[in-house]
Amino acid sequence: MIELRDVTLAYGDHVVLDRVSFKAEFHERVAILGSSGEGKTTILRLILGLLRPDSGKILIDGQDITEHSESQLRDFRMNFSIVFQEGALFDSMNVRENVAFCMREYTNYSEDEIEKRVRSLLNRLGIEDAIYLMPEELSGGMQRRVAIARSLAGCEPKMMLYDEPTSGLDPLTADNICKLIKELSKGDPPGRAGFIIVTHKVTDASKVAERFMYLRNGNIIFDGDINALKNTSDTELRSFISELYAA
Ligand SMILES: Nc1ncnc2c1ncn2[C@@H]1O[C@H](COP(=O)(O)OP(=O)(O)OP(=O)(O)O)[C@@H](O)[C@H]1O
Ligand SMILES: [Mg+2]
Repeated sequence: MIELRDVTLAYGDHVVLDRVSFKAEFHERVAILGSSGEGKTTILRLILGLLRPDSGKILIDGQDITEHSESQLRDFRMNFSIVFQEGALFDSMNVRENVAFCMREYTNYSEDEIEKRVRSLLNRLGIEDAIYLMPEELSGGMQRRVAIARSLAGCEPKMMLYDEPTSGLDPLTADNICKLIKELSKGDPPGRAGFIIVTHKVTDASKVAERFMYLRNGNIIFDGDINALKNTSDTELRSFISELYAA
């Protein structure tokens, strides 16, 4: 389980998160919604221990990681796989090397095992034919798939973290990525691994998540399921999610 307890973080005098608290089980399917600059990526970076809060606690399975050393944090990060905003592939490496990268960094797999695992992951994500292509030769949707394959390669995560996984994609490709995110949360072997997706694409979030939080002015001002979300009386949130009413 993840718990943020009264987490505050500022860059200089710009307070991004102001005593944010929430709990989420690893198997939950959570969407954190919010406009650009509200602190969505910041929350993911805090969960991974890539940033430390100014005050408050971040508990992973009951242990406060804000007190941990860098080497302890590495172990905690293995609970999660993150797909960074924009995919962030290594431009100078082909698909195979991009996906193999974390296995080389973090595991003792032999070259044969790496080859097998890369192929199996690419196959699962439907992009095996792209194995020797360079990132610049891939469409946006394929790049996102490679980024997901890469994030899954180094560990068996208890929870996936997706930062704007469908931004910049056309609606059909975005829909395919949503299906993939749902499919992956069933686990392989089966057994559910949840996720936190941070996004401002409300329709995409509604396709994959069961629980929605809305971040505004440094606080989570909404936390609930899709029905509660659609029925919110908060005028600004209603306008933020207006595309859900049209659907
Ligand atoms: N390293 C940094 N130094 C100073 N300010 C930063 C830094 N990183 C983020 N910020 C600021 O913190 C705020 C939150 O940033 P964050 O990236 O978490 O937003 P976001 O909700 O993910 O936005 P987007 O939807 O555009 O990705 C922004 O106002 C941003 O300018
Ligand atoms: Mg962001």
